[in-house]
Amino acid sequence: MKLISNPTSNDSKKAAVALTQGNLVVFPTETVYGIGADASNSEAVNRIYRIKKRPNSSPLIVHISNIRNLFYWASDIPNYAQTLAETFWPGPMTLILKRRTGVSDLLTGGQSSIGIRVPSNRIAQELLLEFENLGGQGIAAPSANMHGEVSATTSDAAHEVFINEGINGDLILNGGPCEYGIESTIINCTNANPSILRPGVITPELIEVYTGIICNPSTNSNGLIAPGMSLKHYAPQTEIFINKLPEIGDGLLAGREFPTPPGVIRIATPKNLFEYAKTLYQSFEKADSLKVKSLCIYLPDSDSGIAVAIKDRVLKAASR
Ligand code: TXA
Ligand code: MG
Repeated sequence: MKLISNPTSNDSKKAAVALTQGNLVVFPTETVYGIGADASNSEAVNRIYRIKKRPNSSPLIVHISNIRNLFYWASDIPNYAQTLAETFWPGPMTLILKRRTGVSDLLTGGQSSIGIRVPSNRIAQELLLEFENLGGQGIAAPSANMHGEVSATTSDAAHEVFINEGINGDLILNGGPCEYGIESTIINCTNANPSILRPGVITPELIEVYTGIICNPSTNSNGLIAPGMSLKHYAPQTEIFINKLPEIGDGLLAGREFPTPPGVIRIATPKNLFEYAKTLYQSFEKADSLKVKSLCIYLPDSDSGIAVAIKDRVLKAASR
């Protein structure tokens, strides 16, 4: 894949043309980098699965520029989902909705629902607008990583994974580090009430404050394939231990209140939960590249807000 650094509007236009020609484009979003294809082009979408070594049963999120384009993909949209979309899009939230008739099984993993997101990142928005100007309906994009591995939150990370993959015409848009650093909140909107399938920075607390909607925080997937269900997920090469005192040669990710013992390699000291989320995957990569013995992570001391999403990712990364 070819890397484009600091993409201009003109580069977004070129990338949109590449998508219409069946090429893949790795692009930044405010959560993590995505690897995108024209959602209506089965051959291109299939190539995403092949490159990522991702099982076809794992459905993809379709990215659109604006809530208006929702109706092309979804039907029977509940009122609460409409409210969520109006309140939190563009932003780090994915809605699982009933798919419209004719939407490909390739996007939905054969389920009757489809995941939709409107990202806010400037480059993602430009790419989507240019793509839709050319007649495109949406960009299918999973996180830019090999299946089961750590999502890329910097262009260097995406570059490292994909530079030797793909075919002539595939592109990587370098947009610097992602604003939030963990994947979008996924909300199941196929039942009478919404429920969270994957926690993220749009939290049930935030949803209630802004909309009055009560969102079930549990993963009551009701037959849906829930994200990150495979045992090893979001995982670095380095083994992770949770809330364990690090030994000589280990890496440490913890707040300031945990001092670094002698011989231990400090990987990160997040000052707050936003910084914790934003740098989590970068810390995984750093632990791998420094080849620490293992990575000891102290979890946030909270069971609400974005601490829930951070714990979800760390626990999944630690389970082997
Ligand atoms: O922040 C994000 O959501 C990033 C950026 C690129 O948008 N994307 C992302 O995609 O994390 P991916 O494919 O790595 O994770 C999406 C998860 C999958 O694990 C899948 O199980 C779930 O969303 N998903 C997608 N469509 C679904 C559906 N129809 N029903 C249930 N789960 C679905
Ligand atoms: Mg992923």
